[in-house]
Amino acid sequence: MDFYLDTADLEEIKRLNKLGIVDGVTTNPSIIAKTNRDFKETIIEICSIVNGPVSAEVTGQTVEDMLKEARDIAEWAPNVVVKIPMTEEGLEVVNILSGEGIKTNVTLVFSVAQGLMAAKAGATYVSPFVGRVDDIGEDGIELIQNLRTVLKNYNFDTKIITASVRSIGHLEMAAKAGADIATIPGSLLPKLWKHPLTDIGIEKFLSDWEKVAK
Ligand code: E4P
Repeated sequence: MDFYLDTADLEEIKRLNKLGIVDGVTTNPSIIAKTNRDFKETIIEICSIVNGPVSAEVTGQTVEDMLKEARDIAEWAPNVVVKIPMTEEGLEVVNILSGEGIKTNVTLVFSVAQGLMAAKAGATYVSPFVGRVDDIGEDGIELIQNLRTVLKNYNFDTKIITASVRSIGHLEMAAKAGADIATIPGSLLPKLWKHPLTDIGIEKFLSDWEKVAK
């Protein structure tokens, strides 16, 4: 399973990238807005730090606007991926971009049907939002399981990015369901390697060692 960082915080990306567990980065307009930095500069810098796909989202709504933005973003770096919202116009854009060899990540996916549409239109990645699905009283992980089954049934190459990940449970269940990727907030990632028994164990080993160390 690949791990992407769901952040545009450059210091966080640099720090976590040193661990060798970061395979890519995803951003969205809300994440970019938090940085108070220029969108293009930020994406170019992230692309130079991380050795993997970096998603940058269009903000236009029409086919014409999205295509213009997408073609521009695609020139920013060799590892950039254009994020397109799941709308009728978005599907048309994904179809055109896939014909041009531009990689896309279809975002704001909340149902199996939407995921299937993204795959059929030629999306490289599809991002079902598990946390936001849970928020409306449905089961985000079930969405991942069902979408995995459907894409496998028809041999689509589209990769599933588990997005809107809020907990270790989400991550573990998405891995169990066979999601290709999980995109994880920088604040959550350290919780994946931390365990209270590890900390207690280290403390005990060190105090025992102190007793005999000369
Ligand atoms: C990533 O591609 C998504 O934009 C992100 O995971 C959304 O997460 P949120 O629901 O916590 O905002």
